[in-house]
Amino acid sequence: MTSFAAWAKHAQERTEAALARYLPASTIAPVRLHEAMRYVSLGGGKRIRPMLAFAAGEAVGSHPGQVEPAACAVELIHVYSLTHDDLPCMDDDDLRRGKPTCHVHYDQATALLVGDALQSLAFELLAAPGTHPDPATQVEMLHLLAHAAGSRGMCGGQAVDLASTGKQLGLAELEFMHIHKTGALIRAAVLLGALAGGRLEQSARAKLEHYAKCIGLAFQVMDDVLDAEASTATLGKTAGKDAAQGKATYLTLMSTKDARAYTQELVDDALAAAGHFGARGERLADIARFIVERSY
Ligand code: IPE
Ligand code: IPE
Ligand code: MG
Ligand code: MG
Ligand code: MG
Repeated sequence: MTSFAAWAKHAQERTEAALARYLPASTIAPVRLHEAMRYVSLGGGKRIRPMLAFAAGEAVGSHPGQVEPAACAVELIHVYSLTHDDLPCMDDDDLRRGKPTCHVHYDQATALLVGDALQSLAFELLAAPGTHPDPATQVEMLHLLAHAAGSRGMCGGQAVDLASTGKQLGLAELEFMHIHKTGALIRAAVLLGALAGGRLEQSARAKLEHYAKCIGLAFQVMDDVLDAEASTATLGKTAGKDAAQGKATYLTLMSTKDARAYTQELVDDALAAAGHFGARGERLADIARFIVERSY
């Protein structure tokens, strides 16, 4: 079996190549908007969500080619969320994926439109004829992604994040915020990856749901830890922003040591769920382990 590092590199390259094909060329009018969409989407990022989609596809026996549009759709929603998250009216960040943020490199109006257009492109990809052999499953996938991106998913979590700045949240409120702002898209990546190949058995779906819930929360807790512990150079985004801006994070409630221990507990739970798929769940397990061990 190939190593996780080799598998992950392959998944990242597949994602990069597919996004480069799906995104309108920067020679097509409006040139500046298309160039900016490519600027934020290509050549960076860990591509965790596409990897999760491919890994969930593998767990249920689908071919990566079938998973590719879904993997890219979730990544496009994620990149849109980052572009808007960095705007002055939200986190006001000037560095993302090691480059100046979209509104710094272009301008705020372009950054808004880039986010809007990436979100539309994500749904265009998923809805395209031939993306899925079963129309009912295709509609289910569209519904799932729309829900995950909206006010009861990522946007809702972002709203809570903004409303909580400067306030002390309790554990339950923090968990609500993290599960929505980050967990929702991670869950969508896992479920869409599994649905992309065909129908999904109820027992497999329940295991994937549990896996996704655990790693979605773990991923954002670790993002909070890394914001406090890692350097700007390693992260490719400004470190120490959460404390500087008075963001409600897990570190306002516990030490980084306890937050890391909590992440490990969540990941252990996710590993047990991935175990349900035997050898085919190995990549889901690898990604779960990467989430606690990552340094960026
Ligand atoms: C950062 O996500 C924002 C969160 C939702 C925590 P990632 O850490 O996946 O960012 P990229 O895609 O690697 O840049
Ligand atoms: C961002 O959370 C979550 C979304 C973009 C939906 P953060 O604000 O913590 O992400 P970073 O740290 O800027 O990547
Ligand atoms: Mg934010
Ligand atoms: Mg931010
Ligand atoms: Mg963060």
